[in-house]
Amino acid sequence: MYKKLFIPGPTHVREEMLLAQAAPMIGHRAKEYSDLQAEVTPKLQKLLYTQQRVYLYASSSSGVMEGSVRQASTKRMLGTVCGAFSKRWYEMIVANGIPNDKLEVEMGQAITPELVDEALSKADYDSITLCHNETSTGVMNPIEDIAALIHEKYPDVLILIDAVSSMAGTKIEFDAWGLDVCLAGVQKCFALPPGLTVAAVSDRARERALQVPNRGLYFAYDQMDKKYDAHQTPATPAISLIQALNKQMDDIFAEGLDNRWQRHIDMAEMVREWARDNFAIYGDERFLSNTVTNVENTRGISVANLNAELGKRGAMISNGYGALKEKCFRIAHMGDLQISDIKWILAQIDDILEL
Ligand SMILES: Cc1ncc(COP(=O)(O)O)c(C=O)c1O
Repeated sequence: MYKKLFIPGPTHVREEMLLAQAAPMIGHRAKEYSDLQAEVTPKLQKLLYTQQRVYLYASSSSGVMEGSVRQASTKRMLGTVCGAFSKRWYEMIVANGIPNDKLEVEMGQAITPELVDEALSKADYDSITLCHNETSTGVMNPIEDIAALIHEKYPDVLILIDAVSSMAGTKIEFDAWGLDVCLAGVQKCFALPPGLTVAAVSDRARERALQVPNRGLYFAYDQMDKKYDAHQTPATPAISLIQALNKQMDDIFAEGLDNRWQRHIDMAEMVREWARDNFAIYGDERFLSNTVTNVENTRGISVANLNAELGKRGAMISNGYGALKEKCFRIAHMGDLQISDIKWILAQIDDILEL
């Protein structure tokens, strides 16, 4: 049976979007493809409130995360860690031999401007990695405030943002906040199948990259720039996904950006209220995610059994991530899920657990 996904990625993909990938194939050096990329790029710029370049990579988000750290620093990077995905990004800094330090908080806690200020004051850093929405804990870091602090006190520090589980679900103002890299795979809030990553990159990040000798090739911005004005990519792009993305962007604007952000907040509030009534919310209540809620399993239920029962009813949620398995469970409220879907899944859980 088909299961509706309430997991934090891949998320539920509407049939129209599945079908949008079934359009006839086009050559990636043909005018049809250039027209497609020329059409979709300004839509992504509008989504991110930016005039800067937006690249399309045939890759999951992790590839672009690694590519972005390889191009960000000629001095020293600060990697911030608040859960499993930000930890992985930090490990990429280490694995690429980039001089670094780590700012780590306990799982469930947020990275705050104060912590970043203290950490950046300790050495001569030129870039920082930050996870906007830590999918493993359900915490959304205050990126706008952190970026404001960095611009005020550490203007040379490039701000790299993993927005994998927030982009297209929560407002991110790339230019107004002064971000340098902001990336996300399309299998989360864009509600498309995986395999394509969107990355906004500032002019100053592109200039910095040129100073880094071993910046790699596949993800290198200067390589992407060779084809950017022709509305193409150096390697073969994920054409079917870009065709679907182009249609999805129209649907996103038809809903209206502000409506989309509000729908995510409304869904989040509904799940939070239910979680507080029946369980508890994991993590710092001041920094809760708009796209996924991590529920603390205060009743000691079997999350695996709950999911098996939900499966019989055509739905799937996520167990707690890593060490939080069975201690928590996560309900995603992102992408194309509607309030009615959230009401339905919560009613199913109520029924199964006799809450
Ligand atoms: C916040 C965050 N960062 C990075 C990733 C890794 O993304 P991908 O699996 O697309 O490489 C994920 C995946 O769940 C994520 O949630």
